[in-house]
Amino acid sequence: MPESEGFLSRRGFVRGAAGTGFVIVRPELVRGAGNARIRAGIVGVGLRGTQAMIEFLSGNDDVELSAIGDLYQNNLEKALNTVRNPARYPAIQSKITAGPEHLFTGFDAFDKVLASDIDLILLETPPVNRPREFEAAVAARKHIFAEKPLAVDPVGARRVMAAARKAEELKLTVGVGAQRRSQPEYQETVARIKDGALGEILAAYAYNLSGPLPRLNAKPPEMSELEFKIRNWPQYVSIGGDQIVEQHIHNIDVIHWVLGRPSKVVASGSRAWMPSTWVYGDKYDHISAEFTFPGGVICSSHSRHYQKGCAMRNGELVVGTRGSSNCHDLAPRGPLPPKVQEHVNLVKSIRGQGPYINLGLAVAESTMMTIMAREAAFSGQEITWEMIMASKLEFVPPDPRHLPPPGIPAPAVPGQYQFR
Ligand SMILES: NC(=O)c1ccc[n+]([C@@H]2O[C@H](COP(=O)([O-])OP(=O)(O)OC[C@H]3O[C@@H](n4cnc5c(N)ncnc54)[C@H](O)[C@@H]3O)[C@@H](O)[C@H]2O)c1
Repeated sequence: MPESEGFLSRRGFVRGAAGTGFVIVRPELVRGAGNARIRAGIVGVGLRGTQAMIEFLSGNDDVELSAIGDLYQNNLEKALNTVRNPARYPAIQSKITAGPEHLFTGFDAFDKVLASDIDLILLETPPVNRPREFEAAVAARKHIFAEKPLAVDPVGARRVMAAARKAEELKLTVGVGAQRRSQPEYQETVARIKDGALGEILAAYAYNLSGPLPRLNAKPPEMSELEFKIRNWPQYVSIGGDQIVEQHIHNIDVIHWVLGRPSKVVASGSRAWMPSTWVYGDKYDHISAEFTFPGGVICSSHSRHYQKGCAMRNGELVVGTRGSSNCHDLAPRGPLPPKVQEHVNLVKSIRGQGPYINLGLAVAESTMMTIMAREAAFSGQEITWEMIMASKLEFVPPDPRHLPPPGIPAPAVPGQYQFR
């Protein structure tokens, strides 16, 4: 199994490391081992982060959440009110140990969570922050659970690739919220496809036809531009990456899992219905892309955020000489909800009680696939893997307080937008 797939059996890990001159027996806890209690911190407790707290704590024993951070006080309070509800979540109450001195807000909330006495950090802020957070977490030698996508630009994706390799050297577990990779039915089906269950692969398809995702329906006059954009991040390319990067990544990640890196992509897209307002930022509302893989196999990808009443579809299809598969139909469904399963696998990997997991490199490559397709749609150019790996495009600001450019950015115009 190639390195970028993110899973190594413990034996495979020892074998792989032996040739490098040092022996890694298993990815061990930074502090404690075996059944030691794993202390986790989380940053970004909005919609997903709130659920991630519940899933991480309810799926695992001997874990605690000892530091919690968010940029905004009201989001932190809302999240705490949700999770600190003994009637609704009785089993997790004793695992939430973060006292008032370990609840952080502001732009340095991430740094403060990271500096707390934790073994594992859950990264749940908007995507633009991920490269900086991921790199810093590896440098601090923390195990990581990082929400997808892992970047919004090629420079950021490469930063995560490098940090993920470093994490592997350091035996740090890296889970990523590309939950299909944790679902037994996907794991077994993809393994069987790669073992030839469908014969020779001829073509692949990926879909994410879904509805609009604004976080706020209007810009309150008293709210600063920066705050509005951060709170409404899915609509801004420089914070959320565009829909193909932020949502369609789930499907493109499966295609990457099956077929590896593409050699090139061409894509088309635009805004069919989104008005040019603060609410809808500069993202496209649809992108269709055609990836070509070494050897000539093609994947057709189709993503859009259309209004209510339009057709919805979410999934993948791989077609071979002996049949086709939706990538999860050759094995029974797993017993746990996928987003609980991913946290169970994460903790088992940290404890050395399951396969070592480092999904960082694999999902950074999938993220790069989505970015190359977005850039192909924006520019109208064919983009090769070599071009995107050399691209200097970077949205991550040196200081997170200066996130997006001012004003409502104009959506890209193909033929005029310069890929760089
Ligand atoms: N795996 C999945 O199926 C899935 C589903 C939904 C979202 N996600 C991912 O989860 C991430 C978060 O999405 P969401 O829907 O929860 O967004 P959200 O806007 O609801 O929550 C993001 C939170 O991060 C906080 N935040 C923003 N900037 C911050 C900073 N610099 N420091 C600290 N906190 C900061 C915000 O205040 C907010 O509370 C995204 O990467 C998204 O793609 C994954």
